[in-house]
Amino acid sequence: MSLFRTSSLALILLILSYSNGARGGPTIKVVGDRYYHPQSPRDYLQTYVILPTDHTSSTSPVAVGIELTDGFVAKASKLPMQSMEIPIGPSTFFNFTGFEIRTTSIPLVGTNPFPFVYWSYNLFGHPPVGVYDKAHFDFHFMFPTPENWWDQEWTSDSHGPCMGGSNETFFKTFKPIPAKCWPGGSSRNITQVGDFVWAMGSHLFDLAAPEFNPPRHFNFTQIYGQYDGEIKYFEAMVTEEVMKRPRGYKECKSLLDNPMAMTVSRDLPGEMCLERKVKVFSVEYRSFSRVPGSCGPLTAETAKGAYPAPAAPVPPNLCSLPAPVAA
Ligand SMILES: *[C@@H]1O[C@H](CO)[C@@H](O)[C@H](O)[C@H]1NC(C)=O
Ligand SMILES: *[C@@H]1O[C@H](CO)[C@@H](O)[C@H](O)[C@H]1NC(C)=O
Ligand SMILES: *[C@@H]1O[C@H](CO)[C@@H](O)[C@H](O)[C@H]1NC(C)=O
Ligand SMILES: *[C@@H]1O[C@H](CO)[C@@H](O)[C@H](O)[C@H]1NC(C)=O
Repeated sequence: MSLFRTSSLALILLILSYSNGARGGPTIKVVGDRYYHPQSPRDYLQTYVILPTDHTSSTSPVAVGIELTDGFVAKASKLPMQSMEIPIGPSTFFNFTGFEIRTTSIPLVGTNPFPFVYWSYNLFGHPPVGVYDKAHFDFHFMFPTPENWWDQEWTSDSHGPCMGGSNETFFKTFKPIPAKCWPGGSSRNITQVGDFVWAMGSHLFDLAAPEFNPPRHFNFTQIYGQYDGEIKYFEAMVTEEVMKRPRGYKECKSLLDNPMAMTVSRDLPGEMCLERKVKVFSVEYRSFSRVPGSCGPLTAETAKGAYPAPAAPVPPNLCSLPAPVAA
């Protein structure tokens, strides 16, 4: 009897604290780095975390996001960009013209798993052509710290002959991930197509996303990033056109393909939400919940993310790929 009373009291307390927290209770917005538009001193992009006012270091955030003022979006194409030709076929090139900021810090409050955003604006988008070649922003919400990513992994020595990367970074990018820590699990919708980008590792495409069914220009999407046998980032890609939709526009996408576990236990967002608010456009990750920190064994059956056979060949004497996992 007394045990019953204690547990129902605990349940009531739990319900009360839940309704005061995540569900509409008082929240606080903690703002991180702000980046001002070089041509428009009042316009900026900034990161933030929203969490219950009464939080601790173990409280899940309500949202982790980035917001851009309307003027920042309107003047995105005036950012100081650099161009480079990316080979996309034996004799065809893509004019990649973009602007990037490598580290825009996010406050590490509550259980926010993302210490920084690595973001860029791409005037003509980027490959694949017909899908992502449309003016858009890429927001890589990173799990590693900026020190690890920029000072240890992607130093100036990490350039080389393997699609622009060194043998070491190329090799690490295609290190397989056990199925439990692989996005998409057994749905097999999240696909390693052999993408390698310097300072990013590999982007895993959701071939079940609207933009691939049938292939056409996207509006916004969720990308998972693979490097060194782990998912290293969640990337929100959003077109400039979507960011210019009328005030009141709001759309969320459930992240049904999240990994079931990560190398270390951490909160993952269950939703990506876009919103044109009164003066800003926001890109938020929401609905955080904890996944365990254990990927299980790496076997021939569980290994995901190896460099796919049909992908572009790399010089085999200069660039190695991890050996297939033995059964
Ligand atoms: C790529 O586009 C930029 C911006 O329009 C332009 O300045 C540059 O000359 C183009 N480069 C090539 C190789 O076409
Ligand atoms: C994966 O793709 C299949 C076929 O497109 C679809 O039916 C299924 O719902 C997708 N799974 C997830 C988790 O999105
Ligand atoms: C993008 O949004 C437009 C307008 O709502 C819609 O017509 C189109 O089908 C969307 N494209 C994709 C790939 O979802
Ligand atoms: C590339 O790096 C891997 C891992 O360090 C190594 O096993 C391999 O021998 C290297 N390949 C070349 C061509 O240097």
